[in-house]
Amino acid sequence: MRVVIAGGHGKIALLLERLLAGRGDQAVGLIRNPAQVAGVEKAGAEAAVCDLEAASADAVAVLLSGADAVVFAAGAGPGSGAPRKDSVDRAASVLMAEAAGRAGVRRFVQVSSMGAGQPPGPGTDEVWAAYITAKTAAEDDLRSRDLDWTILRPGSLTDAPGTGRIRLAPPPVPRGTVPRADVAAVIAALLDEPGTRHQTLELVSGDSPVAAAVHSIS
Ligand SMILES: NC(=O)c1ccc[n+]([C@@H]2O[C@H](COP(=O)([O-])OP(=O)(O)OC[C@H]3O[C@@H](n4cnc5c(N)ncnc54)[C@H](OP(=O)(O)O)[C@@H]3O)[C@@H](O)[C@H]2O)c1
Repeated sequence: MRVVIAGGHGKIALLLERLLAGRGDQAVGLIRNPAQVAGVEKAGAEAAVCDLEAASADAVAVLLSGADAVVFAAGAGPGSGAPRKDSVDRAASVLMAEAAGRAGVRRFVQVSSMGAGQPPGPGTDEVWAAYITAKTAAEDDLRSRDLDWTILRPGSLTDAPGTGRIRLAPPPVPRGTVPRADVAAVIAALLDEPGTRHQTLELVSGDSPVAAAVHSIS
């Protein structure tokens, strides 16, 4: 399987690239900073330089040619303001989905966030509100497309070692944390289970082994 990962040098993306390479799949990490090529290659993936806030859908579609799946794992990240929540967390996902359609790549796993799908509450911090608004809009865009999408909403991410044990279900799942390593393992499992298409799933740490949890909702 050839999998193109938007945000290819992100923490989840690098973990996913290692998992995919380890099981014999080809991963391609899209990055905007050429200095990150070596890091992506060290994770066992190919790197392609593509700034998702500047590229056209046609240019991205060329990079997706021949791929079997797309994973959107980019994000403006901590320290960014409201405009970049819109230009990355929303618009870059929309760009990837549009390019996937043009390239004929049907499978699309989007990393969203718990909290998406509902308007931010009154008094919410402005940047958090922009983030949740952007993630919700990206989800809505993806659901409107003729793609085999799966939307994955992790809880608060940690860098703790993966446990391989999760709680994965349609919303609402009670809020919690989840190691990025377990998020990467879930994405890898979702790519193997086309029966999870057209589902929105929330993810926190739990008791179920990853493969069993993904299989049970397929
Ligand atoms: N933090 C949480 O608790 C939490 C909870 C739920 C969901 N999430 C979501 O989980 C996802 C992945 O998380 P993570 O921790 O792996 O994120 P991360 O380490 O911050 O990685 C995000 C990646 O996106 C890349 N990116 C940003 N702008 C780009 C652009 N214009 N073109 C190409 N790439 C670009 C960044 O590259 P640069 O190095 O160039 O900036 C970075 O490598 C994000 O969508 C995040 O919103 C986070």
